[in-house]
Amino acid sequence: MAKRGAFGRMGFVLAAAGSAVGLGNIWKFPYITYANEGGSFVLVYLLAIVAIGAPLMIAEILIGRRAQRSAVGAVAAMAQATGFGPRASRSFSGIGWLGIASGFVILSFYSVVAGWTLYYFGKCLWWSWHGFSPADAQSLGPMFSDFLADGRRQIFFHSLFSAFTMGVVMLGIEGGIEKASKILMPLLFGILSLLLLAASQWDGFSAAWRFLFHFGPINAEGILEAVGHAFFTLSLGMGAMITYGSYVSPKSSIPRSALVICLLDTLIALMASMVMFTIIFSIPEAERATSFSKSASIMFTTLPRMFYALPGGVVLAPVFFLLVGFGALTSTISLLEVVVSYFIDELGWSRKKATLIMGGLIFATGVPAALSLGAHGGLSSWAPLREGTAGVFDNLDYLASNWMLPIGGLCIALFAAFGVKSSITRTELEVGHGPWRAYGMWRLLLGLATPSAILWIVWNVIQGHRF
Ligand code: PHE
Repeated sequence: MAKRGAFGRMGFVLAAAGSAVGLGNIWKFPYITYANEGGSFVLVYLLAIVAIGAPLMIAEILIGRRAQRSAVGAVAAMAQATGFGPRASRSFSGIGWLGIASGFVILSFYSVVAGWTLYYFGKCLWWSWHGFSPADAQSLGPMFSDFLADGRRQIFFHSLFSAFTMGVVMLGIEGGIEKASKILMPLLFGILSLLLLAASQWDGFSAAWRFLFHFGPINAEGILEAVGHAFFTLSLGMGAMITYGSYVSPKSSIPRSALVICLLDTLIALMASMVMFTIIFSIPEAERATSFSKSASIMFTTLPRMFYALPGGVVLAPVFFLLVGFGALTSTISLLEVVVSYFIDELGWSRKKATLIMGGLIFATGVPAALSLGAHGGLSSWAPLREGTAGVFDNLDYLASNWMLPIGGLCIALFAAFGVKSSITRTELEVGHGPWRAYGMWRLLLGLATPSAILWIVWNVIQGHRF
């Protein structure tokens, strides 16, 4: 690891935002919102960001900065500083272990989707060169399904993306990727703003708005998914922000940085959704059903339509998919870094060895996921966890996003609220910020609201309640 506390104020916010903003915002949020029929799902998600996500983001960064270590060691160090004995402190670090397991599981399927962005980058180059015909627009849906069912291409792009991720993590993150994020992330935001502007001229814009923001029925599973996604999209509940927090300089205000990260992340998810739903609602109803039968496809089946209807779209389309791939890369490196840093910090492995072995194992876990989208019958219909969640890919996602992250988050929240002396948390939060009036409120949310919300949801899902 490089020397700690190396990030400048902007550097940290960008790195953390780089981890937070990724496929979760641009691919997953629109697709699960579509599957959950918008409305109340979005509302619960927004509530979860404010009441659970933001306080937990503050807690994770604070633990990392104070302890100056990655997840497992940081939790143990904080427990020790509070006065727990070495044995108790070591058991607390089980929280970090759960985080490592989550990083492992998430990265394995995340890299498969990240590979899709590379494929679509190539596809858009081809369209830009040869022309994008109305027939191409109509066949976006079937084309995507064919791609999913083609095991060879799935594994090829998954391995390509895994190689990129391992390459960057092996070289250490500080150099190139930080500088690149400073240019590429604002560019992604710029193109997204342009698309939103274009969308506002399309017929489906107001229907899209109504779809996102209305009251509708929602069940316990939907609430669990919305809350789980709040963790996923903010990279919380698994120690990624603890690890990045260990690089924050004492000049930064933690509450302010956390706020900016949460706002940016939410804004990008909502903008991407408005664009995609506008396209969906601008398409005749009959065609909509065939194009969007597989909701996980909507990012890939909507956006090319709008790009190629815009002046300059031939350039913007490939650039956009490349930038989304880059956004995914700044997330995958944080996922792998959580796993790898444990083996470096605690077991003394070299960075190269840790990256190759763990990256290789994660890649291998991703292979059955890549084949479970139609390529292999048995893997695609495997449904050990719940009805309707079929295939290795869906099950890994469901397990990690809806269970492992919320449970990890619950543990971190309880630990920060009750396992660490409040004199420590208070001082740390006021470093670089000055007196923080919302401290009491923060502890209340962390110690009471977060745990009760998560436990209540889990209880209701187990009971199979509908609301
Ligand atoms: N937050 C990332 C996204 O939205 C995914 C991620 C989850 C990254 C957990 C790191 C840790 O795409």
